[in-house]
Amino acid sequence: MTSETARKKIIFALDVHGLDDIDRWAETLADKVGMFKVGKELFTSCGPAAVKAVQRHGGQVFLDLKYHDIPNTVAHAMLGAARLGVQLANLHALGGAEMMEAAANAVHKEFNDTERPRLLAVTILTSSTVETLRQVGIEHSVQDMVVRLARLAQASGMDGVVASPLEIGLIREACGPGFLIVTPGVRPSFASVDDQKRIMTPAEAVCCGADYLVIGRPIAKAPDPAQAAECIAAEIAEGAV
Ligand code: C5P
Repeated sequence: MTSETARKKIIFALDVHGLDDIDRWAETLADKVGMFKVGKELFTSCGPAAVKAVQRHGGQVFLDLKYHDIPNTVAHAMLGAARLGVQLANLHALGGAEMMEAAANAVHKEFNDTERPRLLAVTILTSSTVETLRQVGIEHSVQDMVVRLARLAQASGMDGVVASPLEIGLIREACGPGFLIVTPGVRPSFASVDDQKRIMTPAEAVCCGADYLVIGRPIAKAPDPAQAAECIAAEIAEGAV
């Protein structure tokens, strides 16, 4: 794999609070990573201006707002995300088939296939355990639920899922090669583990079948973030065929 192909797989987690911070990171990393993740914290503080700030620097956006509501509301929210011109947006698969289908249909109706964002589903949050599931009345293992929800998401028109590195193999097997897998919780060989527990290196995750990797602190907290992003791309390029 070329380092350019590897670079495009890196999504930098913009875990910041202000537009000034976005400008700084987008300027530093626009040609070092493939995309920037705008999540609930940043979007709640800055709104669509956060997306526009990344785009002003030529950056692509993963809008990580994990919608979960009645089908009509999620369909309109997803359409709003698509109109912002983001490349990836997501919802919770636990919202069910009707909710996912409504979101997919709304976006497909207004956008052609080359212009629309790819729609992702979160299966089971990686912070959840079998105990968390039991508390809400789900008597299945996390792995069984992840596979079940990934299949449901695919059948309901989602383009892929967000998943822990350890779930990549199972999902790839269940959903086939065209289904996108976006993976947080990776740590390059040079970085500290922070609070991530079930980790893999970026190269391992890509070898297992991940299409994109969400990476925050290993880049943000590095002495030279641009160089850290380059090193990660090099690790992926060398480790993955
Ligand atoms: O700093 P770090 O690389 O751990 O950041 C990973 C990003 O991915 C953060 O924005 C975090 O909220 C998100 N994330 C995660 N683990 C999950 C799901 C999302 O770390 N299971």
